[in-house]
Amino acid sequence: MQIPERRRVLQTQIRDVDCVVYNIGQLATVGAEAPDGLGLVTQAALAAQGGRIVWIGPSSDWHLRVSPAQGATLLDAQRRLVTPGFVDSHTHLVHAGQRAAEFHQRLSGVDYASQLAAQQGAGEPPLRGILKTVRDTRAENEFALAASAQRRLRSAVAHGTTTIEIKTGYGLDLAAEGAMLNAIGRLQHRGPRVLATFLGAHTVPAEYRERRADYVRLVIDEMLPAFAGRAEFCDIFVEAQAFSLDEARRILTVALQHGYRLKLHVEQLSHLGGTQLAAELGATSADHLDFCTRDDALALARAGTVATLLPNCSMTLRTPYPDARLFLDAGCTLALATDYNPGTAPSENMQLVVALAVLRMGLSPAEALRAATLGGAHALGLGREIGSLEVGKAADLLIWEADDVLELGYHLGTNRVETVVVGGRVLHTLAAQTPWAPDADVGF
Ligand code: NIG
Ligand code: FE
Repeated sequence: MQIPERRRVLQTQIRDVDCVVYNIGQLATVGAEAPDGLGLVTQAALAAQGGRIVWIGPSSDWHLRVSPAQGATLLDAQRRLVTPGFVDSHTHLVHAGQRAAEFHQRLSGVDYASQLAAQQGAGEPPLRGILKTVRDTRAENEFALAASAQRRLRSAVAHGTTTIEIKTGYGLDLAAEGAMLNAIGRLQHRGPRVLATFLGAHTVPAEYRERRADYVRLVIDEMLPAFAGRAEFCDIFVEAQAFSLDEARRILTVALQHGYRLKLHVEQLSHLGGTQLAAELGATSADHLDFCTRDDALALARAGTVATLLPNCSMTLRTPYPDARLFLDAGCTLALATDYNPGTAPSENMQLVVALAVLRMGLSPAEALRAATLGGAHALGLGREIGSLEVGKAADLLIWEADDVLELGYHLGTNRVETVVVGGRVLHTLAAQTPWAPDADVGF
């Protein structure tokens, strides 16, 4: 028997949804299977229940297809652009102090590599490089570290980040690395999704300068076991000024035994072979990759290791941008992240990263958006849960002060994110009226 259309619709209605976003002009789903990488749906709506997307369809149908629970969040997108939230898969958000002086020193001709090398000279306390931030960070307790990181996290969210990875690496002893992890833990409450990475092997601390093998042993024998289960990932900086390939292999092999997944800072300032090591060890991501070869890119693609590029560093260091096309052509999953840190990338703004990818790295807005959302999700091993807007995935999304996906990377230096939703909950919005009430001023 034929069911009349109206009844069939009611039978399939999803009841008690707790979030509906309707009147979406362009919905960039970034769906895993989207042939153009973008999965654009026009005049769309989306509904979520318990933080997950349960329905996506034409905006004109939403009343028929879902019914909101009492007190549900109903968001009118006013025919604008909606995308997945940004997944910033590489940051050093927890630290004390700033390094503006060394930024200006670089502008007058001193390069980052020699700033990192200078920190290793004997004598007075480090004024530059990672060790300057280590000194500042060790001087603060976990509450102060969490408080300053929370302010940066708010800024990251206001610019569209809904999931963020945060590394340790400015403590470099058991107590201070632990304090950094505690500070990260304090950020993991009802806000954006926060994942922790242990980066005890960021550089050799000053007190181990003459006995680096002892520091490697400290990381392996004490830090890795102490932090297992508290950090999802173990990371390492493989570079002449940090750790050798051999040291990296030893540390990361033990990290795997403790259940960490792996991330590596590799090929940032020179080509040492860290990318091949990342592929060999099955790392979740390899990051920076400025000096990679085609063989490196092919190795990452074969291993399923995400290639994470960090254009903010290239901008502030005034070095060539990594070759995004090399990795896409090799078949890699590409991620873009801020690398927020006080030395080489003091910005928590993923829109800037997308703009640089479009302006300076030759990516289309669709490619840049995909790398900054689903690519970042894969770089955190969360490609099935977040990063695209599909039924079953988290309702982590942005309503933009923009109509068209082509506007990504086009607006320069202004924040175009209007509303940020994580798990169906509004975390940040500019839509609410403020005392200034600009709409009233212009007579709407
Ligand atoms: O990812 N390259 C190593 N680590 C950071 C920079 C850290 C710093 O300079 O404080 C990075 O760029
Ligand atoms: Fe980094």
